[in-house]
This record gives sequence, structure tokens and C-alpha cells, in this order.
Amino acid sequence: MDQVMTRKPHEMLAATLQEELEAVNTLIRTRMASEHAPRIPEVTAHLVEAGGKRLRPMLTLAAARMCGYEGDHHLKLAATVEFIHTATLLHDDVVDESAQRRGRPTANLLWDNKSSVLVGDYLFARSFQLMVETGSLRVLDILANASATIAEGEVLQMTAASNLKTDEDIYLQVVRGKTAALFSAATEVGGVIAGAPEEQVKALFAYGDALGIAFQIADDLLDYQGDSKATGKNVGDDFRERKLTLPVIKAVAQATDEERAFWMRTIEKGKQEEGDLDQALALMAKYKTLEATREDAYGWAAKARDALEVLPDHEIRTMLSDLADYVVSRLN
Ligand code: IPE
Ligand code: IPE
Ligand code: MG
Ligand code: MG
Repeated sequence: MDQVMTRKPHEMLAATLQEELEAVNTLIRTRMASEHAPRIPEVTAHLVEAGGKRLRPMLTLAAARMCGYEGDHHLKLAATVEFIHTATLLHDDVVDESAQRRGRPTANLLWDNKSSVLVGDYLFARSFQLMVETGSLRVLDILANASATIAEGEVLQMTAASNLKTDEDIYLQVVRGKTAALFSAATEVGGVIAGAPEEQVKALFAYGDALGIAFQIADDLLDYQGDSKATGKNVGDDFRERKLTLPVIKAVAQATDEERAFWMRTIEKGKQEEGDLDQALALMAKYKTLEATREDAYGWAAKARDALEVLPDHEIRTMLSDLADYVVSRLN
């Protein structure tokens, strides 16, 4: 009993959707294979077997179930969404030159960048095959748009990240694109496939959008204040990679001339020295930007919760509401 009560919201969702989630995992395993290029199953198995929280496919299953869907197309959509996510992770780790993903060495490290890019492309293509099988043009429209938006978000981040002119609006645009677009598409297609009323489909989109933004802001905050054992990442990676995220953007906006020169040297020019991370953290403390960023994350989580109001009164709705709290509760 104790165990049930201390379960986290995404674990509650996973338990409630267990059968469907298993069917999705089977579908993922079948469709990630390739008979023609052995490198593909090597790389995909490495990533897929490492797990991942399966948050996005769960959102699709949850939305469909909550809206009373009784067919099985939602399984294909959930697998589609996870394939798109996995493809973007393969590409993202090449772009970010990352060495760790899901607690394992990245594919770019174990194999090479070429394998990651090409296998990522393969997964994208497989995701499109899967969604076509649902026969719903509306669903295709939503997921195709989301895929384009994710790529735009990543490209915008690449050009904006080390530019001190990057403000909160641009940051929001990046985050909405690279992260929230897939969350909102995941929830929206669940409602669409269930034939939910338009008002509910809109609410599902709004929920996914706000949840995704809260999720990414939390991720960016944890980069500066997380426990590296819990996050599996080093504190200050974004600073070392010269990535302007919300805590720094807020500090740059209030900087004195001298502080501005510091940000210019470390972020824009990338000339970092010993002690710079501590100095950056001191400036963030001076302007309380970690606190302000946390408030922003809470604000988006509240927006996500509010969006659920028009959805059917269902146990899953409560779990989705708790999930919104959970993605930012790590920030306490
Ligand atoms: C990682 O997403 C990418 C971000 C948007 C920060 P997740 O944390 O959902 O990744 P997995 O699938 O659980 O590994
Ligand atoms: C994750 O973005 C990839 C996408 C959302 C496409 P980040 O680069 O910010 O996240 P991690 O730290 O690699 O998971
Ligand atoms: Mg990355
Ligand atoms: Mg990235």
C-alpha cells in the first residue's frame, strides 16, 4: 500500500495504462528493426532497451483513454510519438556532442555521428509509416507539423544559444519548438483519434504545450541547481556549452557593464577560465534568477493543470494534473 501511495504520477499513469503501454513497446521493438542494415537494430536496440520514461507515448494513450477511445490506432500513434522523440534524441546528442543518454554512453560515442544521424532519419521515416496506417489525415497533419517545429526549435537554438541578444521570447520559442511541440502533438492526437469534441482537443493541446514548456524550463534549471547524481548530468554543462537558458538570460537582462563583459567573454566568445562557473552562479544568485526561473516553471505547470478543466472527469485527468506538478516538483 505504501508503495502505491508513494508512486510518482508517471508511474501511476504507467500502471493504469500498463497493457496498452506493453503493446506500444512491442510495436516499437518490431518497427525499429531492419533486415537490410544491421547497424540499425544495433543502434535502436541500444537506445530503446535503455528505456526512457515513455512520457510522450503515455500522454497519447492517456488522452485517448480519457476521451473514451475504444479502437487501437492510439497504440500506433503512441509508438509514432516515441519514434519521433528517439530520432530527435539521436540527432540532438550529435549536435550537443553529448556522451550520456538514458544512463548509457550515447550512440554517437559508441558508434559515430554518421550512424546517429542516419539511424535517426530511419526512425523518423518509420514514424511516418506508422502514423499513415491510422488513415487519419488530421493526425498526419499534427505530427508532421510537430516534426517540422521540433527541427525549427533545434536550429533556432543553435543560432540563438550563444548570442547575448537572445531574450525570454526567443527562449520560449526555442523551448516550445524543441520540446513542447511533441508533448502537445502527443496529447492532441490522442483526443483527435478518439473523436473528442473540438473544445477538448484544444484543451489537450494547451495542456501538452504548457507541460512541455514547464518540463524543459525545469530541465534547464536543474542544469544549474540539480544534484548531478539524480540528473545524471554535470552541474553547469549548459554554461560550459555556452547555451543561454532562462537563468542566464534573466541575469544578462539585469547585468551591469562589467557583468555584461563577463557574459560576453564566457558565453558569446566562449573564453572560459577556472572559476567562471562559480562567478556565473554568483551573478544568478545576486539577481535571484534561479528562483525567478522556478516561478516561471510553476506558472507553466499551473497553466497545464488549468487546461484540463474542460476534459472529462476521469481518474486519468487527475494523474495528468499531478504530472504537471511532478515535472516541476523536482525543483523544490
Ligand atoms: C529528454 O526527454 C529530452 C528533453 C526534452 C529534455 P525525456 O527526459 O523525456 O527523455 P527520456 O525519453 O525519458 O529518456
Ligand atoms: C533535448 O534537448 C532534445 C530535444 C528536445 C529535441 P536538450 O539538448 O536541451 O536536452 P538533453 O539535455 O540533451 O536531454
Ligand atoms: Mg542535448
Ligand atoms: Mg540540445
